[in-house]
Amino acid sequence: MKISDRVNSMQYSAIRKLVPYADIAKKNGKKIYHLNIGVPDVETPAEFLEAVRDIDMKTIVYAPAKGLDELRSAISRYYSSLGLDFETEEVAVTIGASEALLFSLLMTTDVGDNILTTDPYYSNYDSYVIEAGLSISTFPTDIENGFALPEYSVMEKAVQENTKAILLCNPGNPTGVVYSKEELERIAKLAEEHDLFIIADEIYREFIYDGRKFTSFYDIERIRNRTIILDSISKRFSACGARIGAIMSKNADIMAAAFKLCTARLAAPYIEQIGTVALYNMQNNYLKDVNEEYNKRRDLIYSELQKIEGVKTYKSEGAFYTIAELPIEDTDDFAQWLLTDFEDSGETVMVAPASGFYREIQRGKSQVRLAFAVSEDKIKRAIELLKLGIEKYKEK
Ligand SMILES: Cc1ncc(COP(=O)(O)O)c(C=O)c1O
Repeated sequence: MKISDRVNSMQYSAIRKLVPYADIAKKNGKKIYHLNIGVPDVETPAEFLEAVRDIDMKTIVYAPAKGLDELRSAISRYYSSLGLDFETEEVAVTIGASEALLFSLLMTTDVGDNILTTDPYYSNYDSYVIEAGLSISTFPTDIENGFALPEYSVMEKAVQENTKAILLCNPGNPTGVVYSKEELERIAKLAEEHDLFIIADEIYREFIYDGRKFTSFYDIERIRNRTIILDSISKRFSACGARIGAIMSKNADIMAAAFKLCTARLAAPYIEQIGTVALYNMQNNYLKDVNEEYNKRRDLIYSELQKIEGVKTYKSEGAFYTIAELPIEDTDDFAQWLLTDFEDSGETVMVAPASGFYREIQRGKSQVRLAFAVSEDKIKRAIELLKLGIEKYKEK
């Protein structure tokens, strides 16, 4: 007996690789500031837990496979309020955007097909691509221009004969890039020319800074029929553990296929769907306040990074990530060293080496991804620790 080549070929995510070293450091009493992972420290709105506490069920039955009607219509209403017109029947509730991603790949490809995305990209995409038996092609995006999309010909060069879909994260993880309408138009042209689906991972859509307006792939009318929008409450409502996401599309065949996959896994969590309905029914400034809070955190991490000699970065436009190029050759080694060999007053910082997000690993060798999902106090101290760490590491 042996474990499948499929699973054996899957890598632990770039973010989780260092966890054993962090565990040992914590056991030894070191305090760690986490800039390595995008788990928001903002509280989940109380409405979620209140709704869950009010549940009066004697048996936890399966929810409908597509999701609770109440939740699907709440999501539909939320999107309508943003100008994205999805009927209830155009929404399928999934177990996080993670399941929505896997379903989207399963719906648009067959084993052996290819998916196109940016380099760098959200590293978990690799796992879903392997699970679905696919290959991945990328086109380069660069720190020099804040990871904007390259020109059309560069992207087109990466399209393979068996490419079936473009998978794009906007606002971007790990980069914080937010694409302009013109950039999305370029992708739309590519999709039309090569008859590709567009899988739009827009789960960070509320996290857009400097008062900018977010442009969704939905806003390009002529490609609506080839577009699948992925959704999640993990970041929007600071509810990563609830595991609720959604797939939305104007394409009836896509929705029929999504419902088939939903039926095959029976249901998404019932209790959490009830809590999520309450989140969508909130009548307050929660999302606006959260946006302002993250905008402040983005400003802070940018200005603190600017103070470190030899660090190259840019002003992240969305999500809660930024990539920084450090005056260090190998950030995999550096990130580990920060946990095993460095401390300042019993404290250290954990960062994600960016090589784990790149197809061409070498391009990320001197870079780290930093998540500004924690409070301003913590960001300030974490970047101070990063600065001290760089100085000490270079003396080594
Ligand atoms: C870009 C991106 N897509 C999808 C996901 C998965 O989200 P969920 O928690 O809804 O499964 C994440 C989680 O961090 C993410 O960053």
